[in-house]
Formats: sequence, structure tokens, C-alpha cells
Amino acid sequence: MKVEMKFKGNVSRAVNPNGCKQEVQNQINYVKKQGNYKGANKALILGASSSYGLASRITAAFGSHADTIGVSFERAPRDENMLGTAGWYNNIYFKEFAEKEGLIAKNFIGDAYSLEMKEQVISYIKESFGGKIDLLVYSLAAPKRTDYKTGITYNSALKPIGETVVGENINLETEELFTQVVEPATEDEIEGTVKVMGGEDWEWWIELLKEADCLEEGFKTVLYSYIGPEATHAFYHDGSLGIAKTQAEESANRITNELKELNGKGLICVSKAVTTKASVVIPILPTYLICLYKVMLAEGTHETPIMHKDRIFRDMLYGNEANYDEKGRLRPDSWELSEEVQAKVSQLMAKLTSDNFKTDLTAYNLFRKEFFNLNGFEVDGNNNDEVDIAELLKMQP
Ligand code: NAI
Repeated sequence: MKVEMKFKGNVSRAVNPNGCKQEVQNQINYVKKQGNYKGANKALILGASSSYGLASRITAAFGSHADTIGVSFERAPRDENMLGTAGWYNNIYFKEFAEKEGLIAKNFIGDAYSLEMKEQVISYIKESFGGKIDLLVYSLAAPKRTDYKTGITYNSALKPIGETVVGENINLETEELFTQVVEPATEDEIEGTVKVMGGEDWEWWIELLKEADCLEEGFKTVLYSYIGPEATHAFYHDGSLGIAKTQAEESANRITNELKELNGKGLICVSKAVTTKASVVIPILPTYLICLYKVMLAEGTHETPIMHKDRIFRDMLYGNEANYDEKGRLRPDSWELSEEVQAKVSQLMAKLTSDNFKTDLTAYNLFRKEFFNLNGFEVDGNNNDEVDIAELLKMQP
């Protein structure tokens, strides 16, 4: 059967597995082109199936020959109406490509927040992965988390705090600009977002891995955060998700303390805004993205997740160009936040109208293509939109 893109608002309801395969290949090619570097040997990536997590896994494996374990929450195909999620295929194809190079690539599909998943991964590390890891990337973006110590389920909310925010957003399904009104988060919503997207679960992973003696001397762990410019602070940095990310900074400090005897480190890496399943549903952010990309393209600094993560690993986590701020956070987002870039982005955002936002004034077309690419559509190098359901159903992660 033929597959074609379908949406609901800014959420894709379709996948092209052939395009996903090509996209993984394209990212591998990108990393290989940059050459090898001395980085991780044994990496655990939480949230490994798409965007920042997948890119981290690809640079670790194909830039520094790391064996990797990926944990993600993805759906398998069921029938012609439910072909599964893009991340399902990304995991499978990543594994196929990595194994061809003689690397271990183990996929766990399930809830990274659960104790059961932590125990399964730890047993695997001990029994089949050489016993220890030297890198853990925490790249989860999730709508909910059940705290296994209390049994309570928390939901995350992308909302401002204390004020209603009104701004222009893009509906990718209808290709229209619309005015979005985002009501402030309640106390419960703020607490829920901190529980889901803060650093508590990250700390629990490290605690259990350390107890099980699974951490190598010099072990590093990194959680991806976002700050963004003033223009986005009301709904991001000063909002519920921003509070959660700020709390994760305290987790990073506690983790570094916890890892002292191993000479290890817990790091926050403030990454740039990119087009991902998670970011396109952040209120108002898409209008910022189409202007940001336009400006950064002109500067020659536009980055996709693989370009950004490869640079971070190569130059910062394992290189000599680490750019730390006064709080000890890695700041590869400095290109996005430079005064010059932000001044131009603000000017551009002020000019946006329903009539011009899709024109060459902005990078709307690139943004839309990157969004399609996430689900295997419009991927460079792939023209195949035919799939065989029976074959897809046989594929195992
Ligand atoms: P994404 O939505 O593309 O990927 C999220 C990953 O988490 C997927 O692999 C998914 O399967 C996995 N996941 C979700 N719930 C899970 C669960 N319960 N158990 C196991 N796996 C689960 O997200 P994206 O955008 O790559 O974000 C990753 C991290 O990077 C997030 O913490 C986000 O806040 C951060 N970040 C993202 C930026 C952006 O512009 N997209 C900018 C800066 C930071």
C-alpha cells in the first residue's frame, strides 16, 4: 500500500517507514562525514527513538563507535490503519545499521519512568553489555509519568505561570496562522510538569545504576534543557516546562555530588530550538522557529538535531570547546541566542502576517519539511512510499 502524510493539528498521524530508514541513514552519513572522535564507549540513551535522543545515539555510535542501549516509548504497527510510530522504525533501522558495523545496539520499548524498565536495563548492562556504561543521555519528552514509589500519575502541561499568554501560532494541518491564547498553569499542573520533565527520574536512574555498580570511572550524564530568548520566556522559560528544567539543574548538581568518587559528572546541556515532535506542540514556538531558521540560515548556523548533537558531543562533551555558563551548564545554544541573531528574529517576527508567513520572508517551507521528515516524509534520498504490511509486522526492535 501507499502511505501519505496525515495530520491532526501539529501532530502527525502517518508514517513512511522507508523515509524513516533513509533519514536514519542520512544522519549516519552526516556524522561519518565529520570523521571519528574519541567519545563514549558504552552509552545508554533514554528517549533514543527520535530527534535529540536519536541524534545523540547516532553520533555516539557512528562518531565514536559506541555500543548503545536505547529506551523509548513507541508503538508497533498493527494493520494498514495503524502503521506504528516513526520512532518504532527509527529504532529498528538504527539497530540494523549499527549491527552492520559490529556495534551492539539494544532497544528497549516501554516506560523509562518505571522501576521495571530500570531493572531490565540494569540486568542487560550487567549480563550482556560489559557490566558498565560511561554515558547516560536523558532525552525524554513525555506527557505523563507514574511515580512508582507512590503510584501517582502526573501530567505535564506546557503553560505560562501567573499570566495568560496570547500569541500567533502555526497550524501545520491547515497551514494557517492563528491566535493562540494560553491560560496559566494551575499549581497541580506546575507540580505535574516538574514531576514529568524535571530531574527526579534522572536522579533515580543514576542512583540505581550506581547501586548496581554499572557506572564506569569518569561516567558522564547529560539532560537536555532549553532556555530560549526573552520573546519565548512567558510560555517557556518562565512557564511550567521552564520551571521543570530549572529544577533539573539542581538534580545535575546532586548527581555530580553522587558521582564524586567515580570522577563523574551530571550535566545540563541547554540545546537550541529545533523541529521535533515535542517542540512543534509548544504554544507559539513554531512562529519563532520559522523566523529563527530564516536568520540562522542566512548566518550559516542553522542546525538540525543531528548537526547540533554531533557538534555538542564532538566539541563540548568530548572536545576542548565546551562552553559553560556561570551555572555550569553547557551552552551550545549560544548561536541561537546571540544578540545579533535575536535582534533580527524579533524584527522578522514583528512583520509576520497571515499573508506572508509562508513566503520567503521566513523559513516556513524548511520548518514544514523538517516536520514531515520526522515521520519519514519528504526525506532527501527517498522516493518510495510503498509499504508491505506483512513485512512491517515481522520487523522486531
Ligand atoms: P521527541 O518527542 O522527539 O523525543 C522524545 C523521546 O522520549 C522519544 O524517544 C520517545 O519515545 C521518548 N519517550 C517519551 N515518553 C517516554 C517514556 N515514558 N518512556 C520511554 N521513552 C519515552 O523530543 P525532543 O524534542 O527530542 O526532546 C528531547 C529532550 O530535549 C526533551 O527533554 C526536551 O525538553 C529537550 N529539548 C528539546 C528542544 C527542542 O527544540 N526540541 C530544545 C532543547 C531541549
